[in-house]
Amino acid sequence: MNNIVYVGMSADMVHPGHLNIIKEAAKLGEVTIGLLTDKAIASYKRLPALEYEQRKIIIENIKGVSQVIPQHELDYSVNLKKIKPAFVVHGDDWKDGIQKITRQRVIETLNEWGGKLHEVPYTKGISSTQLNQSLKEIGTTPQIRMAKLRRLIDAKPIVRVMEAHNGLTGLIVENLTVDKEGKKKEFDAMWLSSLTDSTAKGKPDIEAVDVTSRLHSLNDILEVTTKPIIYDGDTGGIPEHFLFTVKTLERLGVSAIIIEDKTGLKKNSLFGTDVAQTQDSIENFCLKIETGKKAQITDTFMIIARIESLILKQGMEDALKRAKAYIQAGADGIMIHSKEKSSDEILEFCEKYKQFENKKPLIVVPSSYNHIYESELIEAGANVVIYANHLLRSAYPAMVDVAKTILENERSSEVNDRCMPIKEILTLIK
Ligand code: SPV
Ligand code: MG
Repeated sequence: MNNIVYVGMSADMVHPGHLNIIKEAAKLGEVTIGLLTDKAIASYKRLPALEYEQRKIIIENIKGVSQVIPQHELDYSVNLKKIKPAFVVHGDDWKDGIQKITRQRVIETLNEWGGKLHEVPYTKGISSTQLNQSLKEIGTTPQIRMAKLRRLIDAKPIVRVMEAHNGLTGLIVENLTVDKEGKKKEFDAMWLSSLTDSTAKGKPDIEAVDVTSRLHSLNDILEVTTKPIIYDGDTGGIPEHFLFTVKTLERLGVSAIIIEDKTGLKKNSLFGTDVAQTQDSIENFCLKIETGKKAQITDTFMIIARIESLILKQGMEDALKRAKAYIQAGADGIMIHSKEKSSDEILEFCEKYKQFENKKPLIVVPSSYNHIYESELIEAGANVVIYANHLLRSAYPAMVDVAKTILENERSSEVNDRCMPIKEILTLIK
């Protein structure tokens, strides 16, 4: 048998616990680190702060490490079967929870050639979870936040985005997690919707809330969150103005702007053809995309082109033609919108988009065809799903209901169980 000792790790924030495991592993033989890729980590928890290559540089320079190889799945067995190590070394803290199954598979796989699992006592007083919490409290930088969206698109089957229109909704998107089948689920990014930002200000969604006001909402969200932001840029305005919006958003660390190919007085897409709306010409819209791309300074910021052909009943061929032209003009992604209850036209677009030679990430907004599951969108080839208005739409009826009940009863005790306790609101914001 060889003397390879395999250690799988994420190594996002290296702490003495990691060093202890490597030290113990080195006593048994030549240490190979199976470094989990961003994809492997994102399959069960939040994307790491550091990218794979950055984590690799750190790990390969730690005393006792002979080589670092990528581990593409949470499951060790693919790598183990390749290198057939004599030992796998791991902290003894994986006997419960999601890692329990992974551990069992490691033992079974090692048995195939008589390898052994060696478990090192968990280093007390330090944990990645604690360090992650502290990191979150420190916040983020514009560059790191901006780059996160592209990393997420690369690492996840679909990037899940929720609408936020103020600091409080930003905090919900930032902090909410759900445990499902041992995996931690959360929203990956925020959508700064023009509809909900305008509605929260008591104004219609017609670009009457100008960029300066939108930036106030954005700033409130930036101050209290670290997740990436996709900004709803409406039509983007005229190209001469659009370039300033791009520069501003980029400076603030927003990851992407989505602009829609409409011109003149913009109305919300969910009106469809019930109101007069004009689609921009392909030439004009391409010029806007090109102007924006020239204005940006980083390679990271994304300008995503939103196609309104299906909303405006211009047909599938028009939508596909525009997608090709916008990508050609430099768009970093395509958002295809539909207001149909059925998902047929969206799925048809996705199917045809799959055939494109030059493809960019595809973004969908299932507000009306909301029966669709994320798994179906993944299957169709969508890269990003935006839940565009749900926090505001759920808050409004709850508020009206409470206000009505107080009016009817001439006191407020009837709404006790519909309101969060006073104690809770006082401590909600840390
Ligand atoms: C928004 O959220 O403002 C959007 C998506 O642009 S939609 O309302 O569906 O047009
Ligand atoms: Mg909008």
